[in-house]
Amino acid sequence: MADNVVPNNLPSSVLVVGSGGREHSLVREIARSPAAPRILAAPGNPGMASEGASCHAVAADDLDGMVALATAEKVEFVVVGPEVPLALGLVDRLEEIGVPAFGPKADGGELEASKIRTKQILQKYGIPTAPAEVFTEVDPALAYMRSRGAPIVVKADGLAAGKGVIVASDLSEAEAAVRDMLEGNKFGSSGSRVLIEDCLRGEETSILVIVSGRDYLILPTSQDHKRIGEGDTGPNTGGMGTYSPAVVVTPELLQQIEKEIVRPSVEAIADEGIDFRGTLFIGIMLTADGPSVLEYNTRFGDPETQVVLPRLDCDVLELLWRASLGQLAGFDLSVNDQHAMCVVIASRGYPESYDKGDAINLPEPMPANVAVIHAGTATNDSGQLVTAGGRVLGVTALADSLKGAADLAYATCEQIDCVSKVFRRDIGARQFNRK
Ligand code: AMP
Ligand code: GLY
Repeated sequence: MADNVVPNNLPSSVLVVGSGGREHSLVREIARSPAAPRILAAPGNPGMASEGASCHAVAADDLDGMVALATAEKVEFVVVGPEVPLALGLVDRLEEIGVPAFGPKADGGELEASKIRTKQILQKYGIPTAPAEVFTEVDPALAYMRSRGAPIVVKADGLAAGKGVIVASDLSEAEAAVRDMLEGNKFGSSGSRVLIEDCLRGEETSILVIVSGRDYLILPTSQDHKRIGEGDTGPNTGGMGTYSPAVVVTPELLQQIEKEIVRPSVEAIADEGIDFRGTLFIGIMLTADGPSVLEYNTRFGDPETQVVLPRLDCDVLELLWRASLGQLAGFDLSVNDQHAMCVVIASRGYPESYDKGDAINLPEPMPANVAVIHAGTATNDSGQLVTAGGRVLGVTALADSLKGAADLAYATCEQIDCVSKVFRRDIGARQFNRK
C-alpha cells in the first residue's frame, strides 16, 4: 500500500468531531484500520458508540472544550466532520497545541463559510461557474435581477445550514428572498451580503477531493437526492439519499472535470496562500455547456460519505493522516467495483418541525453488506434507541449493481421499526432511468 508511511507510524488515538451520519461513517472506517486506534467521538452518537468509540459531551463548535478534550485524552489525531468548527478555526487551535488534524484551517474553511469568497476565487482563476454579482442593498439587487431575468438564484453569503440558497422560479420569489436576507433577520449576519447568480440547468454531482496542499486524490463519484419528496419534489433537505458511482460522470467527463475544475481549484487555493489539508467537496452542475462549479464545501458530504467511503479498499485512517501531514503523494487510493446506496430515514415532518424521542428498533441480526449509519439518534434513560434529529438513519448497502444495493437497503428500511420513519422510495431513480 503506502510507501513512505508504515502502519506503525499511524496515530494510536483518533478524535472524530461531530455527531451525524458522516461522522459515524468516518468512525466505522477508522475502526477498520490495521492501526486499530482508540477512537473518541465528540459529541458522537449511539452509532459511533456501537463501533467502539467513546463519546464525550463536547459540542462540535466548542473549540475550548475540544482542545481541552484532545489534551486531556492525549489524542494524537483529530478528524473534523462539520463545517462550523472548521470555519471557526478548530484546526488552527489544534495546531497550536501540536495535534495534527484532518480538515482545513479557518482560511480554508472560509471557502464554504463565504460563498462570495469562493465566487471571487472561481472568477479570478477562470474556473467555470455561473455569472454572479454581490449585493448589500436591496434596490441594486432587484435591478440586477430584473436585468438577468428569472429563474435566478439568491444566496446568503455565510453558513446557513443548507438553507441559504433560494432557486427562484420568478422575480417575486427572488425579491422576497433578497428582502428576507438583506432586511429580515432570518439569516443573521450570514445574510448581510447576498450573491445573485444565474440559474444553471442540468444534473448535479458531488466530487469529493482529498487535498493536501497541491496534492490531491479524487474520491469515487456520487449523486444525492436533495428534495424531501419522491420525483425530486418539495423542499430541499440536507440530502435524502445517495449512490456511488454516479454513472453520469463517465471516465471522459471525470477527466474533463479534473482538468477544468479540480486541478485548477486545488492550484488556485494554494496560490491564494491557503494550505488546505482536508476534503474539498465540489458541487458541480453538468450543464449543456460543460461542468460548472456551484459551490465548494470544505468537509465530507453527508450523506455522500456514507456511499463513498465503503468503496475505498485502502486504509481510510492512513489516507486522512497522510493528507493532514502533507504526505499524500504516493498514496494508493484503491477503489472497489461495488455500487453503494444510502437511503436516509427521516422523522415525519422533516425538513420542517418533527418529533423526537420515538423508539427505534433495528433488525437483529443486521443483513450482510448493510450498515445502518446513525445521523440523529440518541439513547434515552431506559437505554432505548430513539429519534433525535430530522435525518435519523442512513441505511447503506453495497452490492454488485445499484439495483442490488437498492434491494438490500430498502429491505432493511422496511425492517426498521419506528412510528415516525419516512424515506423516499426512489433513491437512484435518475440512474435507473438513464438509457
Ligand atoms: P449550494 O449550497 O451553493 O450548492 O446550493 C445548494 C443547491 O442549490 C445546489 O445543490 C443546487 O441544487 C442549487 N443551486 C445553487 N446554485 C445554483 C445555480 N447557479 N443554478 C441552479 N441551481 C443552483
Ligand atoms: N449532502 C450535501 C452536503 O453535505 O452538503
